[in-house]
Amino acid sequence: MSLKNLLIIFEYDRFIYWFIHDESGGLQMNVQFTYGVRGTDQSVADAVIRFVSKKELIPGETAGPIMQPQIDDALRGLYAKGLFKAEPEQTEILSTLGLYPAAHVVFVGLEQEGGATSLRLAAAAAAKALKKLHAETVQVLLPSALLEGQEAELGAEHAAQALTEGLLLALHVRQPLKREPNERFTLKEVAFVQQGTAVTAEDAALWEQGIAKGKLYVEGVALARDLTNLPGNDLTPERLAYHAEEMARELDLEIEVIDEWSAAEQRMGGLLGVGQGSINPPRMIVIHYKGNPDSEEAWGLIGKGITFDTGGISLKRAEGMQEMISDMGGAAAVLGAIRVIGELKPAINVIAVIPTAENMPSDRALKPGDVLRMMSGHTVEIVNTDAEGRLVLADGLTTAITRGATRLVDVATLTGAVSVALGTQATGAVTNNEELFKLVQKASARAGERIWQLPSYPEYKKQIMSDAADLKNSGGRYAGTITGGLFIGHFAEDLPWVHLDIGGTAWLESSRGWEPKGATGVMVRTLIELVLHHE
Ligand code: BES
Ligand code: MN
Ligand code: ZN
Repeated sequence: MSLKNLLIIFEYDRFIYWFIHDESGGLQMNVQFTYGVRGTDQSVADAVIRFVSKKELIPGETAGPIMQPQIDDALRGLYAKGLFKAEPEQTEILSTLGLYPAAHVVFVGLEQEGGATSLRLAAAAAAKALKKLHAETVQVLLPSALLEGQEAELGAEHAAQALTEGLLLALHVRQPLKREPNERFTLKEVAFVQQGTAVTAEDAALWEQGIAKGKLYVEGVALARDLTNLPGNDLTPERLAYHAEEMARELDLEIEVIDEWSAAEQRMGGLLGVGQGSINPPRMIVIHYKGNPDSEEAWGLIGKGITFDTGGISLKRAEGMQEMISDMGGAAAVLGAIRVIGELKPAINVIAVIPTAENMPSDRALKPGDVLRMMSGHTVEIVNTDAEGRLVLADGLTTAITRGATRLVDVATLTGAVSVALGTQATGAVTNNEELFKLVQKASARAGERIWQLPSYPEYKKQIMSDAADLKNSGGRYAGTITGGLFIGHFAEDLPWVHLDIGGTAWLESSRGWEPKGATGVMVRTLIELVLHHE
């Protein structure tokens, strides 16, 4: 525990006290992973995981051994009764009764040739069963017949990465800040064990690479989730900047934290307008990653960092408002991605920009009817103070462009409308460049994070034309996600740009697959995949 977590702030006549808390609650990344064959000298594990395909259970199809004759019989018996059908994510826990050197076996349904997503899902389902068993040391059996199909398509490295991600991501849940801290269940040892085939040195190297990459990606997602789950009184714009500075220092990256005075000098009217209603001043955070100094190309990744969104004067209703602590989910995704990029050090350039503010109602808050002049010089009529994300993001895009970004991707919990359109199943996308969108789409497919493109017909832009200024900040309820996106796109200055609306995917009411209840850290892995595979 360190003193940096004790906050006592004196401001005007106000005194804020925030309790000391220990930040070591993050995911324990010291899980030991190994890869090899099953030897005779194998150590005893708490549990063993075996992925099973439907095909293996259909009588007469492939009646080959699964893991141990009596246990296999028991499993086939369950199949015959229709109790275990090896459906995706279906698990069956059996006691091994001394028939195998592990107390329990967890059978997990796995779709044959379902790709990385099905591996990630199966591993996540297994992880939840392990948590139930309090099994900290596990053996993961890799049946050659089953994995051959997956590996042929994916390659061993990707298969290893997907399994590692699924196991670790599913166990990373929100840590409540209680008086008596309860330990988050974490794995201690995971041994991937090839069944039936010999392990080549080449294979082992690929598996080790995949495991290492999986662990690293999970660290990025865990960072994003942890930040997003922080309550609004712990995560103000200044505190978010502090976390970004800590990360930048650790990774040895250049960082600018622009305060309200410097933001005024740089005419960031959107950021200052949204921030002016709160006693917690806004910040513009810029992190520079220069992996290829000779190149003129630079990715601009911009994340919405509203640390709490009350709606401002256009106040939100009380019900569910507490979820608005997640209105910096886009900022968290960008920070999580930069953390991994900073570790992997690819030969590319990235400019990460996080406009962060607290959207509050007060005597000095923005009002409907106000007109702002943005950093770009464009003017905006405020018709709804709850459409604040696009205002800070507009200045975020301009900041990225002035710092040299040549391709822009913004990530934002921008609209409630996106969940009306897509539910929690997909992130909505709006773009001005089909080519760039295709790259984002490919990256999202590799990451197993769904993205769905919405149309951006020029007619939609009419909805945000204003009589009082260049634009107005809301086009009304119809096509809300599209008009919100197009507002941001107005500030892209003809550079290729993709907008990702995570309003429905950044926060979940209940867990699913590898995503927990609360913050999901969605788009961290998509952003990494995007910039890693393209200059
Ligand atoms: N942060 C919200 C969007 C949001 C709402 C995300 C619920 C996730 C869950 C955003 O700032 C907002 O309030 N958007 C308005 C826009 C409208 C005023 C044009 C919305 O969606 O209602
Ligand atoms: Mn809002
Ligand atoms: Zn918002």
